[in-house]
Amino acid sequence: MELTDGSPARLSFVQHTIAGMHPLICKIKESPIKDTPFPHVMINDFLGESLFQELISHPDINLGPCTDVNELNGSLNVAGWEVQLHPGCIATFAEYREVREGKALYKDVNSYGHASRHQLLSGSGIAYRYQRSESSAILDLISLFHSEELLKALYEKFEIHHETTYDCGLQKYLHGYEIPPHPDIRSKALTFMLNLNTDPQSSLAEYHTHFMRLRPKYNYIYRFWDNHDEIQRCWIPWEWCLTSNRHRINNSICIFKPSSHSLHAVRASYEDLTHQRTQLYGNLWYKKPTPSQACTFEDLVPTSPLILSSSLLSSIPQSS
Ligand SMILES: [Fe+2]
Repeated sequence: MELTDGSPARLSFVQHTIAGMHPLICKIKESPIKDTPFPHVMINDFLGESLFQELISHPDINLGPCTDVNELNGSLNVAGWEVQLHPGCIATFAEYREVREGKALYKDVNSYGHASRHQLLSGSGIAYRYQRSESSAILDLISLFHSEELLKALYEKFEIHHETTYDCGLQKYLHGYEIPPHPDIRSKALTFMLNLNTDPQSSLAEYHTHFMRLRPKYNYIYRFWDNHDEIQRCWIPWEWCLTSNRHRINNSICIFKPSSHSLHAVRASYEDLTHQRTQLYGNLWYKKPTPSQACTFEDLVPTSPLILSSSLLSSIPQSS
């Protein structure tokens, strides 16, 4: 189903929401769940060309070229973007500027993890979230993604049976943003990402999400995570994984329900002064208690006490 062309794209939101199920929600409901490398929905041309172009040409999203990172930060702030605490990201622009100016290698100073995570990072980035509340096509899109109808469709599509909270917004990720392979923590019930990049060549850029699987010698980790709900899933080294594909296509949305198999990662290395990696990003979060036992990648090597004491010992290749 397509949005109506010829009239202002944002009007179609109102029109279709009143008349019946929104066509974008129909797309989600009707799209198949693909199996490789883990169950997910991928929908290309999600918004339709007219609405997509309206969004990515909006001056709050397409900021225009900047001469340096200070000007970029200023332009982002003026357009309604504020630094967003996000896994793998620095929490303040002042610290990020030190990285950009070569005064610090990286500063993963956010509150998201164990110090051993630093060993997995080759850089540091920063994320911004759009905070403006004026009426626009952007807010129509965000409103749709907060609608009861869409959330109900996600619940049904991905068979989510527990109460959740919801978080969704437009985000930009600057050069250096990196999050190593991870399947998402157990409290996440759903993750979705809609690519809204202003760069016409964005599909070629080096900032897209990798969809990954474990190298065969590490397959025991899938079973370890499956068999130990009480232990949190964690970040693991890039070299333990293989990339199956990347979420490169602009105006495509990927949606998945995190599991032990939903490995994904990002390493953004690109020129961000003209165009920035931009997504509508969201999560559903379980309200139920999460596992209390922390875990790091060091606990998952074949010789770790945790793995040796598990029932998986016999399934780990001895040669690795
Ligand atoms: Fe993630």
